[in-house]
Amino acid sequence: MSEFQNSHVNVNLNDRSYQITIGQHLLQNSAETIGAWLEKKSGKHSSPSAMIVTDNNVTQYAANVSDSLESAGWRTSTFTMEPGERSKRLEVISQAWDQLVEFKADRRTVVIAVGGGVVGDAAGFMAATFARGIPFVQIPTTLLADVDSSVGGKVGINHPQAKNLIGAFHQPLGVIIDTDAFKTLPERDYKAGWAEVIKYGVILDSDFFEFLSQNITAIGNRDEAVLRTAIQRSCELKAQVVEEDEYERTGLRAVLNYGHTYCHAFEALTGYGELLHGEAVSIGIVYASRLAEKMGRIEKPLTDKQIELLAGVGLPLNLKEPQRISIDDVIDRMKLDKKTVGGKLRFVLPTRIGHVELVEDVPEELVRETLIEGGLSGS
Ligand SMILES: NC(=O)c1ccc[n+]([C@@H]2O[C@H](COP(=O)([O-])OP(=O)(O)OC[C@H]3O[C@@H](n4cnc5c(N)ncnc54)[C@H](O)[C@@H]3O)[C@@H](O)[C@H]2O)c1
Ligand SMILES: [Zn+2]
Repeated sequence: MSEFQNSHVNVNLNDRSYQITIGQHLLQNSAETIGAWLEKKSGKHSSPSAMIVTDNNVTQYAANVSDSLESAGWRTSTFTMEPGERSKRLEVISQAWDQLVEFKADRRTVVIAVGGGVVGDAAGFMAATFARGIPFVQIPTTLLADVDSSVGGKVGINHPQAKNLIGAFHQPLGVIIDTDAFKTLPERDYKAGWAEVIKYGVILDSDFFEFLSQNITAIGNRDEAVLRTAIQRSCELKAQVVEEDEYERTGLRAVLNYGHTYCHAFEALTGYGELLHGEAVSIGIVYASRLAEKMGRIEKPLTDKQIELLAGVGLPLNLKEPQRISIDDVIDRMKLDKKTVGGKLRFVLPTRIGHVELVEDVPEELVRETLIEGGLSGS
């Protein structure tokens, strides 16, 4: 038995509402949870079925889920991908569609993602497209997936020319976060996930930011209580934003992009794969806060506080070899970013810890200054 109770976060989206359950040893009983969600959504099923989607690094967790389902009388099939971003491509989805057809999946077959954000995004896309949308459950196993990719219903794959270009909104029936998965999560992926957690503090919740700053050692030790609090609060904050702007129409959801305009440019220009997404977010946060300073929106000590926390959990603050990246290329990439409108530079910038604003028409000159100061190469 766990010394901790399970906790829950509700994501309220009318008839697409769902629950995130956070706890330990949840995978072994996942059939009960998923069965209840399915029944609530579409009534009792006499012969439920599920396709579990996973990658080669986390098959043990997928096996826990399929064992639980099979013992409860479900028919299951498992689709295992190669780990890594390259699996978010159409050929892989196409193989999964074939497997669903062979499995005789119907409109009530549940697609269950067991893995990190790559598995979640790809599995969600399979579920969104097969038979015009079948039920979907997220069982994230990385910190990034716990606090970010599994919440909010964005699913998709990459186009050879652009990340996450092909996708859909498809909300899950529910999310099961089992902290047992942290036992095997590599240190680098673990740290990278904290960048998004810290981001939530900066954009929406100064108390949460303080909590994180006071628990840097516990974070390093993967302390269960601190992890639980951080995951729960992050999911609550992301859920709030998603509830206000489910389809990213009003611009409210854009606050989640703090640090991401720099991040996306750096990820693309260093070659996808060199920096983990969370590492690029960390660096992007530092640059964005410096930009906010230049615009007179925030004082330097507040940038320093963010830097202290990011560095404290072991995240990078700058590119390893900034001189290899050209400032012009970064600016060009920023103008291409799908978050920009009409080629204008838009940034999410903090005014204090716990509050950010979407700023249109940021002078390019100031962005260039941050890049020069970061050591990138001029033309
Ligand atoms: N849909 C969204 O809203 C959203 C938001 C943010 C990120 N994303 C997407 O998420 C993806 C990144 O997710 P990620 O960081 O979880 O990467 P990932 O899925 O590639 O996982 C990272 C690595 O850890 C391994 N792994 C996962 N869980 C493990 C565990 N418990 N123990 C041991 N190894 C484990 C994986 O096999 C992989 O090698 C990107 O494709 C990104 O576009 C989507
Ligand atoms: Zn991100």
